[in-house]
Amino acid sequence: ALPICSRRQNVFRGKSAWTGKKPMNNANKKREHWATRAGFVLATAGSAVGLGNIWRFPYMTGEHGGAAFILIYLVAVLLLGYPLVVNEMALGRAAQRDPVGVFKVLAPNSPWWLVGALGVFTGFIILSYYAVVAGWSLAYVYKVVVATVVPGIDHARVFQDHISSVWEPILWQALFLILTVGIIAAGVVKGIQRWSMVLMPVLFVLLLVLIVRSVTLPGAGEGLAYYLRPDFSKVTGRTLLAALAQAFFSLSLGMGAIMTYGSYLDDKDEIPSNAMMVGGLDTGVALLAGFALFPAIFALGFEPGAGPGLAFITLPAVFAQMPLGAFFGVLFFILLGIAALTSAISLLEVVTAWLMDEKDWSRKRAAVVMGLVIFIVGLPATLGYSVLKDFSFPGLNKDLLDTYDWVSNSIFLPVGGFMMAIFTGYVWGAKHAIAEVNKGHKRFMIGQGWALLIRYVVPVLIFFIIVVGIYDTFFR
Ligand code: TRP
Repeated sequence: ALPICSRRQNVFRGKSAWTGKKPMNNANKKREHWATRAGFVLATAGSAVGLGNIWRFPYMTGEHGGAAFILIYLVAVLLLGYPLVVNEMALGRAAQRDPVGVFKVLAPNSPWWLVGALGVFTGFIILSYYAVVAGWSLAYVYKVVVATVVPGIDHARVFQDHISSVWEPILWQALFLILTVGIIAAGVVKGIQRWSMVLMPVLFVLLLVLIVRSVTLPGAGEGLAYYLRPDFSKVTGRTLLAALAQAFFSLSLGMGAIMTYGSYLDDKDEIPSNAMMVGGLDTGVALLAGFALFPAIFALGFEPGAGPGLAFITLPAVFAQMPLGAFFGVLFFILLGIAALTSAISLLEVVTAWLMDEKDWSRKRAAVVMGLVIFIVGLPATLGYSVLKDFSFPGLNKDLLDTYDWVSNSIFLPVGGFMMAIFTGYVWGAKHAIAEVNKGHKRFMIGQGWALLIRYVVPVLIFFIIVVGIYDTFFR
């Protein structure tokens, strides 16, 4: 058994109750809290709504049986996603600390803080390559104009040339990180909240404009049919796993991003309904993205694909065929940039909160220094398409960016989410967790059903995601 004082009800708020020495953290300074409910919900939805919603979810839906997949995805969000969002919010608010601090507070003198440390490390790695892809999006805000107005241009070539040139992607990556650092350095309310309140509504409007353009093209129906026609014959065991893994990834779970945002909640804020709104917004944007993409892709006679190829090669080709395509292309890449930026700030906030709470750094210093280090750690991922093109880890057969992506998303995130569910279910205790979740409730409360999910259903589901993910990478 782990040497844990597990039923600790009193929650650490300021002075160190068990080490006797002065706390090495900012907890005795006043912790910032969200100024408004909408600020918290939009910031957290901003973390969740990212590249995964725009280029992964629609594609998976089209591949895995349309409306049949959507149905399964909704069940995955309810059984796995929602319970874990609630869990991270509750853990963060209970401890009022960064992910490492959460476990130090709730399970002092135990190795559980390592789960938080894994989360902080994962945030660090994800941001290092997320910034590379986000940089491509920023570059494409103007490159797409060139690509759509020059007749007969080879779109695959344009993209290949961009990512394999050495300096250009590095400059855009740096610019993206400077924006991220700037927002985080300004603080929770003046940075994260203020910018989420601006960027998220802009994102919704851009998405709606693109949808209207897409579904009004002649021949849009074919794309809608591809996206939505339910085909249960395409649903297999793997479909279920794909839906679970996507729900988990899309909600930014497993690394303490939602936990860190939750640590800026107050006891009078409500968790169950806010978590519901975040899940709803994230799922809504994912569903809507399909309406922006497929009708246009099919109407203009293209084949859908997923990932960077879809965004940076297929879509520019689609925009090139479309009336006013350059204009809509610019809107699309601004949308992609915003989706990436609001996710990136939550990633940098995890690392920043850790340095502030555990190492007593100032917010500005933490944001700037970590931004720089993350930039440097991301350089191999950028250079993996140019200078380091021929390098790949033995046995993995992936370029460097995909390698960063694979370790974080297939291993670190699910392991983190698994441990967080076990922690709440068996160490902190479902009883304390439920009490924490329901504090400040005005709309609805959660109860034993949630505890059953966290204790039994969630760990089993994540276990399968991890095992099958590893099997698929190495043995298939
Ligand atoms: N949810 C993001 C997306 O859909 C990606 C993501 C995964 C993420 N884990 C995260 C973003 C943690 C921020 C923090 O693209």
